[in-house]
Amino acid sequence: MIAIGSDHAGFELKEAIRLHLEEKGIAYQDCGCYTADSVDYPIQAKKVCDEITAGRAQLGILCCGTGVGISMAANKIKGIRAACCSDYFSAKYTRMHNDANVLCLGGRVIGAGLACELVDIFLSTPFEGGRHQRRVNQISELEK
Ligand code: RB5
Repeated sequence: MIAIGSDHAGFELKEAIRLHLEEKGIAYQDCGCYTADSVDYPIQAKKVCDEITAGRAQLGILCCGTGVGISMAANKIKGIRAACCSDYFSAKYTRMHNDANVLCLGGRVIGAGLACELVDIFLSTPFEGGRHQRRVNQISELEK
């Protein structure tokens, strides 16, 4: 299960991603928002991250205007490793090396075509483990 969510500035991009997941037959939970009415991104970040920390979703996608604010909020939540990406290499390697569990995208930064490509590579790339596990563990230590 993939949890998706956005604020108003990421709503349109989240909708494009939702349709993309729908077309690919990937199960998702849409945590909102559901209209373009203004909503605060930290609230939306928590909704998606709660799905992950509760074990109901394995990965999450969050969209705001830049992708930055919502990633900052998500990264305050224990167990969340959120990566704001707008390029293919970062979206791939943040799974391989950081075991990122949330991809953050900027609806005012990138278009739906690139965003869907980033979602695809993020969702399909496994964590490499090995020496990267040690470093991810060190990130977890910083949460204490
Ligand atoms: C909302 O206007 C905007 O500030 C928000 O979507 C995001 O870009 C924050 O980082």
